[in-house]
Amino acid sequence: MSDLEAIQEHYETYKRMGLTLNMQRGQPSDADFDLSNDLLTIVNEDTLLTPSGIDIRNYPGGVAGLPEARALFATVLGARPEEMVVGNNASLELMSTVLMWALLRGMKDSDKPWVGQKPKMIVTVPGYDRHFLLLAQLGFEMAPVTMTPDGPDIEAVEKLAKDDPTVKGIFFVPTYSNPTGETITAAVAQRLASMATAAPDFTIFADDAYRVHHLTEDHASPPDLLRACEAASNPDRVYVFGSTSKMTFAGGGVGFFASSIANINYITSLMGAQSIGPNKIEQYRHVRFLQTYPGGIPGLMRAHAALLHPKFTAVDRVLSRELGGSGLATWTNPKGGYFISLDTTRPVADRVVTLANAAGVSLTPAGATYPFGLDPHNSNIRIAPSRPPVAEVEQAMAVVAACIKLASAEYDRKH
Ligand SMILES: Cc1ncc(COP(=O)(O)O)c(C=O)c1O
Repeated sequence: MSDLEAIQEHYETYKRMGLTLNMQRGQPSDADFDLSNDLLTIVNEDTLLTPSGIDIRNYPGGVAGLPEARALFATVLGARPEEMVVGNNASLELMSTVLMWALLRGMKDSDKPWVGQKPKMIVTVPGYDRHFLLLAQLGFEMAPVTMTPDGPDIEAVEKLAKDDPTVKGIFFVPTYSNPTGETITAAVAQRLASMATAAPDFTIFADDAYRVHHLTEDHASPPDLLRACEAASNPDRVYVFGSTSKMTFAGGGVGFFASSIANINYITSLMGAQSIGPNKIEQYRHVRFLQTYPGGIPGLMRAHAALLHPKFTAVDRVLSRELGGSGLATWTNPKGGYFISLDTTRPVADRVVTLANAAGVSLTPAGATYPFGLDPHNSNIRIAPSRPPVAEVEQAMAVVAACIKLASAEYDRKH
């Protein structure tokens, strides 16, 4: 039996097992959700008035969210309560809202709306498919730069921003990036905050979805983009977004963002035309639950880490056992967030995903981590270990490793 035949036979053994495993859903597990089930009952007819005197059933309360929620989620983003807007369940919706107003009206100091200017947005690759989808749907041209272990390739960003006034901003994940798990350094944050930009209204859209999602005690120090921009005399340059989607309930949480007070005044004057205010019952449930959870938000995140960390180590353990030293793939070993980024050495990511799907392991489509689904190296695969139990993660990764071996051997035979 040739090497290729032996590898093929190994893969076929998995195929015959009739597995149905899913490694593409970046969703919490039911055990993660169960940590927050008290949310369902923590607000009732005895808790209708918040400490600041707002009746959560009625309209008054303001478009920026409950004061108690602004104060609580300010602690997540390292902001001041008055720099916060707390909205409904999705931070993606808040990102869309800010981008749509930028297109239709411009940012606070824009001389004209972005929509007529053929706006370009710098994005990091590999990156989050929904950022690319949103920007594409809104008509932005995307300028990809590499996500390095220190953050966006800052020299490439500076070069793009310096001369072209249609480059309106950068969209990226600053802490435990999706999918690479990298966190930007203070030095990169400082350069983003202070760099020269041809567009006077250049804006940093920092999707800090994983700001407090540490997997270990030895965790990253998230960058403080708000203060870095303030210190660089560009206080209005940044919007930082976050949500409780991966803290409490992915489908029933609270989204929020922080920016300078001047930006908050500007954007809430526009958002106030869209809505009298967000869902205060949801916000107040979160305030009461997160304030009373043992250890508060950090305590809850430690409980998630206890569930999640073994899944991340299982991915690394199986890949190291099956592929370590083979030169066939590299993968990240993040200290937080929700994803592991795997790169095949040969341009075979699409073949690996096809083989894995045929063996009952569903993976994020190859290319998803690049704009328009086009990975120029055909090498990146996003691994999402959060939802399945550890045993399934192990089994799925053994199949993925077998698929990488087979796809690489097929490639070598042809080339
Ligand atoms: C980087 C990033 N931002 C945003 C989201 C979605 O957040 P939300 O549910 O608040 O819209 C995700 C979900 O996977 C994500 O990975």
